[in-house]
Amino acid sequence: MAVARAAPIKVRSELESARKQGDDLFTLLKPDAIYDRPIAERHRVIFYIGHLDAFDSIQICREGLGLKSTDPELDALFQAGIDPDSGHLPADTPADWPSLDAVRSYVQRCRKRVDEYLDDAPEESVCMALEHRVMHFETLAYMFHSFPYDKKMAQNAETEKYASRPTHVNSWRDIPAGSTLLGKPRDGTFGWDNEYEEFESHVPAFRIQQFDVANGEYLKFVEDGAELPHFWIRRDKGLFWRGMFEEIPLPLDWPVYVNQLEAEAYAKWSGATLPSEAQFQRAAYGSEADGNRLYPWGDAAPSVATGNFDLTRWNPEPVYAHPQGESAFGVSQLIGNGWEWTRTPFEPFPGFKPHLAYPGYSANFFDGDHFVLKGGSPRTASRLLRRSFRNWFRRDYPYLYATFRCVLE
Ligand code: AVJ
Ligand code: FE
Repeated sequence: MAVARAAPIKVRSELESARKQGDDLFTLLKPDAIYDRPIAERHRVIFYIGHLDAFDSIQICREGLGLKSTDPELDALFQAGIDPDSGHLPADTPADWPSLDAVRSYVQRCRKRVDEYLDDAPEESVCMALEHRVMHFETLAYMFHSFPYDKKMAQNAETEKYASRPTHVNSWRDIPAGSTLLGKPRDGTFGWDNEYEEFESHVPAFRIQQFDVANGEYLKFVEDGAELPHFWIRRDKGLFWRGMFEEIPLPLDWPVYVNQLEAEAYAKWSGATLPSEAQFQRAAYGSEADGNRLYPWGDAAPSVATGNFDLTRWNPEPVYAHPQGESAFGVSQLIGNGWEWTRTPFEPFPGFKPHLAYPGYSANFFDGDHFVLKGGSPRTASRLLRRSFRNWFRRDYPYLYATFRCVLE
């Protein structure tokens, strides 16, 4: 069978602009931050400088084309990230890593090899490399978010007024019983292993909140004794939101970013539950008239009008922004402004097969500790916003841009 080749010109320019976009991210940091580890469960920043291009070279040249690497040791060092539980944190020191110059020259060697063989590479390897790179734009964003401000270069902060209009009502939307599609058909377009195969799931009627739970709603739970979420901080003048480049008075109408345990506790406290993955899918993509849509708002590609995603902003927006992005059942912001926790453990769909070139991508995480998130955040690239894309993290992981809404069954 002929292997699908990547379309050369388009792919080269996409890869080039993704490399540029990634390189620019690291310039947000002061040079002395490169060997720091802003999140105890992740690698030091230096790892990610090598990792993005190590991955491309491994997938495209080694796995895709069977070429032997000239840098097997650096490939091994930069091949994969870590995901320890909080009881098994990494103990490496900056001295365990090569110099920045050595890593940069390794990156140049990887890029040169990839460019040389790109025309021969299977399209799937190239898509994997591109999607992997943009996924890490988000990892890097929330990692850098956790750095103290004096480790970051000054930015023109997003200078909107953070005036809150916390008076919106988070009403319940009725979702009628019906079937929803999960997964992805093997139709030749790219998908990660955990998206296969496509199947239909019947979802009984339920109700779901129109909006993500906002900081102002979660505040009532905090006043009733819940801990402050990771992104909040208490100062003399009251509660603040730890933004990427500045602290701002807690915006009451932005989605609350929490881990899954906090989301679940809030839902329980308010007499509700978290949505299952199938319920999310039904609320987001279902409709009375035209079956499953490609996006909540219809079949048009994502745009700035339909949501807060694709690395346009560093901050969330009010939960009621982008009414044009509403689903057929009147549910807002199912894509963008924050990933949404579900109550569904990350498990394989029926027919799952690990990808031969990257068998651990999903299978290493089918352990009951990781839960499915759907949707996308302000730092999620549009190419990841397809209906079948699944994200997952440990349920106690508080760093990512993840929110939730409740359901009643
Ligand atoms: C799919 C976002 C959970 O960041 O751990 C990146 C993606 N896998 N490199 C992660 C990933 C390997 C993964 N998530
Ligand atoms: Fe990675």
